[in-house]
Amino acid sequence: MLGERNTEHSYKKRHPLSCWHEKAMSSTMIFFLRTIVLLLFSTSKFVSNFASLTPDLCHPDERDVLLQLKTEFKILKPNDDCITSYPKTESWGNSGTDYCNWDGVTCDIKSGMVIVLDLSCSCLYGPFKSNSSLFRLKHLRSLNLAYNNFNLSPIPAKFNNLILLETLNLSSSSLKGLIPREILQLTNLVSLDLSFCDSLSIENPPLFLRLLAQNLRNLRALDMSFVNISSEIPHEFSYMRSLRYLSLRSCYLVGEFPSSVFLIPNLQSIILYSNLNLRGELPVFQRNSSLQVLGISVSSFSGIIPESIGNLKHLVSLTLEISNFSGRIPSSLGELSNLSTLSLSRNHFRGEVPSSIGNLKQLISFDVPSNQLTGKFPSVLLNLTKLRGIDLSANQFTGFLPPNIGQLSKLESLVADDNYFTGAVPSSLYQISSLITISLARNQLSDLVDLNVFSSLKQLVILDLSGIPVSTSNITSDSDFSSNFGDLSLSGCNITEFPEFIRNQRNLNSLDMSKNSIKGHVPDWLWSLQELHNLDLSHNSLSGFDGSLKAVSGSKISMLDLRSNDFQGKIFIPSTSVTFLLASSNNFTGEIPLSLCSAQFSPTIIDLSNNNFHGSIPRCLGVDISFLEDLNLRNNSLTGSIPDMFKHAYELISFDVSHNRLEGKIPLSLTNCSALEVLNVQSNKINDTFPFQLSSLQKLQVLVLRSNKFHGMLYQSGGAWFGFPQLKIIDASHNDFFGTLPSDYFLNWTAVSSNEDKDTQAHYIGGSLGYGYYTSLVLMNKGVSMEMERILTIYTAIDFSGNRIHGQVPESIGLLKELHVLNLSRNAFTGHIPPSLANVTALESLDLSQNKLSGEIPPSLGDLSSLAWINVSHNQLQGSIPQGTQFQRQNCSSYEGNPGLYGPSLKDICGESTPPESEVPVSSEEEEKEETLSWMAAGLGFAPGVVLGFSIGYVVVRNKKRGTR
Ligand SMILES: *[C@@H]1O[C@H](CO)[C@@H](O)[C@H](O)[C@H]1NC(C)=O
Ligand SMILES: *[C@@H]1O[C@H](CO)[C@@H](O)[C@H](O)[C@H]1NC(C)=O
Ligand SMILES: *[C@@H]1O[C@H](CO)[C@@H](O)[C@H](O)[C@H]1NC(C)=O
Ligand SMILES: *[C@@H]1O[C@H](CO)[C@@H](O)[C@H](O)[C@H]1NC(C)=O
Repeated sequence: MLGERNTEHSYKKRHPLSCWHEKAMSSTMIFFLRTIVLLLFSTSKFVSNFASLTPDLCHPDERDVLLQLKTEFKILKPNDDCITSYPKTESWGNSGTDYCNWDGVTCDIKSGMVIVLDLSCSCLYGPFKSNSSLFRLKHLRSLNLAYNNFNLSPIPAKFNNLILLETLNLSSSSLKGLIPREILQLTNLVSLDLSFCDSLSIENPPLFLRLLAQNLRNLRALDMSFVNISSEIPHEFSYMRSLRYLSLRSCYLVGEFPSSVFLIPNLQSIILYSNLNLRGELPVFQRNSSLQVLGISVSSFSGIIPESIGNLKHLVSLTLEISNFSGRIPSSLGELSNLSTLSLSRNHFRGEVPSSIGNLKQLISFDVPSNQLTGKFPSVLLNLTKLRGIDLSANQFTGFLPPNIGQLSKLESLVADDNYFTGAVPSSLYQISSLITISLARNQLSDLVDLNVFSSLKQLVILDLSGIPVSTSNITSDSDFSSNFGDLSLSGCNITEFPEFIRNQRNLNSLDMSKNSIKGHVPDWLWSLQELHNLDLSHNSLSGFDGSLKAVSGSKISMLDLRSNDFQGKIFIPSTSVTFLLASSNNFTGEIPLSLCSAQFSPTIIDLSNNNFHGSIPRCLGVDISFLEDLNLRNNSLTGSIPDMFKHAYELISFDVSHNRLEGKIPLSLTNCSALEVLNVQSNKINDTFPFQLSSLQKLQVLVLRSNKFHGMLYQSGGAWFGFPQLKIIDASHNDFFGTLPSDYFLNWTAVSSNEDKDTQAHYIGGSLGYGYYTSLVLMNKGVSMEMERILTIYTAIDFSGNRIHGQVPESIGLLKELHVLNLSRNAFTGHIPPSLANVTALESLDLSQNKLSGEIPPSLGDLSSLAWINVSHNQLQGSIPQGTQFQRQNCSSYEGNPGLYGPSLKDICGESTPPESEVPVSSEEEEKEETLSWMAAGLGFAPGVVLGFSIGYVVVRNKKRGTR
C-alpha cells in the first residue's frame, strides 16, 4: 500500500556500514560499498552526507535497548496468522553486535540510529509493557508490530515518545482497551494501522476522531477496522487531504457518513464494510478522482449509484452489498474500463442491467443477487472473456439462458437461482470445463436435464438443479460419470427413484433430494458415504430403510431431514453425529430411540412431531441436553410424565409436547431454561397448578397450557408481580382454573403493554432456529382455530376461556395496549365490562361470551377500530350496543342470549326477523366464504418459504371452525 513513502529511509534492509569498525574491511571494500550506496540513492537528499561517514556510528545504547526489548517478550509460534511468521528477534545478538544487521532492524545511514523496526509476524508473545524499552528508540520512524500476540494488554501511552514516527502498525496484535489519546501527538504519522485487534475502543469518540483528523494531517493510510468506535465520522475527516487509504470495517459506526470523504482528491481506497447502522449516500464523483476501491457492505447506506460513477476511471473494485441502495444500475458504469470486481448483492436495484456492462473487459466477477432486476439474461456478459463468476440469483430475470454461454471459457461459477428463466439449460454450458459451481434452482426451466451431461465437468463441486426436471437414468453404475460433487441439490426434480450414481460420490457433503416422488426404501449404501453431513429427504414418499437399522460407524450425518414421507415402523438414526433430526409428519411408531441420548454430539433440534411415537419421553435426553434448542414431540401418543431433565438445557428455545397423553406435573427444572421462548403442553392430561415457578424466565413469549387438568388460581395470592416479562401469548383455556383475578392483575404485563419491537422487519418467535425451521402453534382467534406456521413476535393473545374464574374482569386490562386477542369466554365473570378495555387499541378479537357480565357494553368500545370480531353472547348485558362500525358488522349471534341488550344498531345488524334468542349461530354461506377469504389473504405472506414482504397478516389458516372451541 505505502511502499513508496518508505523510500526516503529504507536504504537497505541490512546495511553494513553502521558498525563497520567491528569488521575487518579493506578500503577497496568501503569504496565499493560507497559506490553501490551512491548508485542506489543518488536521488536521495542524504547523498551529500555520505562523504562524512565516520567509523564510530555504532551506538551501544541502541543495541542495549534492542537486546532489552528482545527479553520483554516470549516467543510463541502462532498457528496460522502469517504464513511467513518466524521469530525475528531470536537471532538478535547472536550474529555479531552490529545491530543494524539484525533481522527487522534498519538504521539511518548517517547517524546509525534505528529508524525502522519491522517485527511484524515475529511470534512475540506477552503483554506490551507501558515502560517498554521500545520507547527509548527515539529516532524510530517506522514501527511494525503487526501479527504478534500482546495478550490483550493495552496500547501504551508512551508512544508519544516516538515523535518522529511516520508509520505505526499494530494490526492483528491482540491489543485491548482504549487507544491512548497520546497517539494523536504523533503528527508525523503517514500510516496508522490499528486494525483487527478485536477489543480496541476509544474514549469520547467524536472528540478523538476530530483531533485525529486535525492533528494527523499527513496521514495517507488509516486502518481502524474492528476498533469499536460506536460514533459518527465527523466531517473533519474530509480535511485529511493526504489520505489515500481509509478502512473502517466493523467499527460500529453510526449516523450519516460525510460524503465529502469520498471526494478527497487522492483517495484510492475506502472500505466501510459491516457498519450496520451507518447511513450515507454516494456523492457526485469528480473527474479527477483517484478511487480504485470503493467498498460498502452491510450498512444502512441508501440512494442511487450516481451517473457520475463513470468518472471513477481508476476504479478496480466496486462492492455495494447488503445495504439499501436502490434505483437502476447506471449505464455510465460501463465507462469503468479497469473494473474487475462488481458486487451489488442484496440491495433494491431494479430495472435492466445496462448493455454498457459489456464494455467492462477486465471484469472478473459480476454479482447482483437479491435485487429486483428485470429483463433477459444480460447477454453482453458473454463478451467478457475474463469473467469467472456470475451471480444473478433472486431477481426477476426472464427468458432463456443464452445458448452461447459456453463462450465464457473461464467461468467458474454460474448462479442464477430464484428467477423466471424458462426453457432449457443450454448445452454449451457443459463445455465450460472450469466450472466449479452451477446453481439454477427454482426457475421455470422446464426442459428435462440429463444429469449425465455434467460428466464432462471435472471441476464441478456444487450443483443445484432444484425445480428442474432431471433424469438420472443415463448414468449407470458402470458409466464413466466422473463428477465428484460436494454439494448436490436435486429438490423438486421429478425424481422417482433413488439415483444409483450417488453411491460413488465419495466427496458428497450435502445431498438434497427433497420434494421428489421417491418411493420405497432409503438405500443403505448412503450411510457409507463418509463425507455426507447434510441429508434432506423430506417431502417424498419414502416408507422405510434398507439394511440393519444399526448406526453405521464412520457416518458423519449431522443434519437428517425425513419430514413428510410415508415412513412406517421404527425410526432409523444412521449416525451418532446427528444434531438436527427432523422427522415430523410420518407414521413412525415405537419409542423415541435412546440412541439420541448416546449421540456423539449433543442434538440441537429434534422434531418428531405428527407421528405415532408411544412410550415415555426418555429421561436420558437430559444427560446431554445443553445444546438442544428445539424439542418438538407434538401430536404423538406419548405417555407418562415429562421428565425433570432440563437442568442443563440452557439453549432450549422451544419445547412442544402438545397433543399427547402426558400426565403429571410441569417439571421444576424447566426454570433453568433461560433461553426458553415457547412452552406448549396443550391437550395432555397434566394435573398441576399454574407454573408460577417459570415466571422468572426472561425470554418466555408463548405459554400454552390449554386443555389439560391444570387447577388452582391464575393468581398467586400475596404474590405481587406476575412475572413473565416477555410473555406475549398465554393460553390457559379449558382447564380447571378458578378463583378471582385482582383488579391490578394485568399490571406489569410488559410485553403486552408496549410495543418494543418497532422494527419494520418481521421477526418470528424461535426464528433463531436454523434450517428455515420455525416454531408453530395452533391458536383460537376470532372464533376460529388457526395454525400459525410461524409466530410473529408482534402477535399477542390472552386466552383464559373454559375455566371457572369468577369476579370482575380486572380493570387493569386497559393497560394491555398491544393485546390482539382476548378470550375470557365460558367462565363465571360478573360485574361490568371494564370501560378501560377501550384503551386496548390493538384489540382485534374479543370474546366475553358465556359469563355473567351485566350492565351495558361501554360505548367507548365503539372506537376500537381494529376490533374485527366480538362475542358477548350469553351474559346479562343490558342497554344499547355501541355505535362503532365494528360493532354493527358483527353477526347477530355475537349478542344473543342477553335479553336486556337492545338498540337501533342491534336491529340494524340482525333485522326485525332474526330472533335474538336463537341458540344456533346463523351465518349465511356467503358471509362465511368472505371471512375465509379475508383470512387467507391475511395469511398469504406466510406461505412456507416466504420470508420477507409482509406487513399485516400473521397467520396461516389451516382449520376453519365456526363458533368457540
Ligand atoms: C518497567 O517497570 C517494571 C516495574 O513496574 C520494572 O520491573 C521493569 O524493570 C521496567 N522495565 C523497564 C524496561 O524499565
Ligand atoms: C501493517 O502490517 C501488515 C503486516 O505486515 C500489512 O499486511 C499491512 O498492510 C500493514 N498496514 C498498512 C496500513 O500498511
Ligand atoms: C462498543 O462500545 C460501546 C460504547 O462504548 C458499548 O456500548 C458497546 O457495548 C461496545 N460494543 C462491543 C461489541 O464491544
Ligand atoms: C390431580 O391430582 C390429584 C392428586 O395429586 C388428585 O387428587 C386429583 O383428582 C387429580 N385431578 C384430576 C382432574 O385428575
